[in-house]
Amino acid sequence: MLDKYSILIVEDIPVQAKKLQYVLQKLGHNVVWKEDGVLAYEELQKNSERYHLVISDYQMPNWDGIQLLEAIKLNDKLKKIPFILLTTIEDENIFFKSLQLGASEFLNKPYRQEELKLRCQNLILLYEYQSLIEKENQNLFNELLEKNQILEHKLAELSKTHTQLQQMQTDLVQASKMASLGTMGAGMAHEINNPLTIIKSYNSRLKAILDKEEFDKTRVDKINTSIDNAVNRIMSIVKHLKAFARNEKISDSERATIDINQLLSDLRDFYGGLVISNNITVSEQFFSGDYKLFGFRTVYEQIFLNLINNAIDAMETSPVKTLDISTELIDDNQKILATIRDSGRGIPKEIMDKIYDPFFTTKAPNKGTGLGMSLVRSYLKECNGTISCQSEPGKTEFFLTFPIYTNNSKDTKQ
Ligand SMILES: Nc1ncnc2c1ncn2[C@@H]1O[C@H](COP(=O)(O)OP(=O)(O)OP(=O)(O)O)[C@@H](O)[C@H]1O
Ligand SMILES: [Mg+2]
Repeated sequence: MLDKYSILIVEDIPVQAKKLQYVLQKLGHNVVWKEDGVLAYEELQKNSERYHLVISDYQMPNWDGIQLLEAIKLNDKLKKIPFILLTTIEDENIFFKSLQLGASEFLNKPYRQEELKLRCQNLILLYEYQSLIEKENQNLFNELLEKNQILEHKLAELSKTHTQLQQMQTDLVQASKMASLGTMGAGMAHEINNPLTIIKSYNSRLKAILDKEEFDKTRVDKINTSIDNAVNRIMSIVKHLKAFARNEKISDSERATIDINQLLSDLRDFYGGLVISNNITVSEQFFSGDYKLFGFRTVYEQIFLNLINNAIDAMETSPVKTLDISTELIDDNQKILATIRDSGRGIPKEIMDKIYDPFFTTKAPNKGTGLGMSLVRSYLKECNGTISCQSEPGKTEFFLTFPIYTNNSKDTKQ
């Protein structure tokens, strides 16, 4: 380890310097000699990397040993070089001062050569190990820095991916909003088709009446009221579908008690024309008693109209065409069961699970959109109703149950 190190000797007495030089050179070191502190400091500044040890006398012209030590310890490039102070003066203050300033050793002259040699060797070795540790530390630090940079780079990439994912999520939410907007639009088109057809037919009746020179005012008023009702129904349907799409509730003040038997009879106005043109026999069987439903009339109307329209479609090619609509009281008069039965082609088992899916249809594209049953399911949620179905060729039954209105129904409504 101690191959060849450079030692700076600072000594104003040439004999002393030569003696020191001789001892150290014998150990194989390079020795440079300066005659006072100032010169020594200049040399150290010029060759800061070169020296492994400074051995300095205390008493010298210009800077003494303590001044040199102080200057070295204030210089970042030099402060780690080991420093031995040699002096003939046995002054405690100098001893403490030199230790306080960071001198590595303090030796009194005359020194024992063996001791000087050993102390020099120990200090140089220590310095060398320290330098090695520092270098190793620096390498580790650089490695850490490099790894840190890689990590920072990865972090930046991750954060970029995160931003991209967030953007994708926003896009997806937007896309799903657009999709539900599309479904809502299609749902509205589906549901207002029926009242629009009614308005159209009343309008042509109105025109026929008005074309005559004299017309019956009472008839015109009646038709006008029917058109008004149909328009109100459209407005109510649109309102409910918008509320469904936005997952909102419509104000309770618009809910009312509903006579289901009366409602089902009134619906004839809407599907009556179809029944006649398709030669369908309709039978109605209703429970008797003053039991009411509670909620939005339009919602109930749309549930039954969708089921009845499907029943009429299903019987298009049937030899026997019967539509049975019935209501009965069940569960100790706590619920109403409404049954819509048709003698149509039936629903195959394989598609029974799918009929409530939006846009599922077995009808021709210009005939069905596949939205009726999915809307029925949404409407049923609104009025706490349930639906089930039994079907075979020639007979399909839809069973619907609704809670009967009691005085506290309003309070228990969600
Ligand atoms: N009473 C029924 N008899 C036979 N099949 C039915 C009956 N009711 C529903 N279905 C089946 O369920 C499918 C879905 O019905 P849904 O009312 O949702 O849509 P759609 O009637 O096909 O179209 P849209 O209601 O938009 O005009 C129908 O295409 C049909 O195959
Ligand atoms: Mg339908």
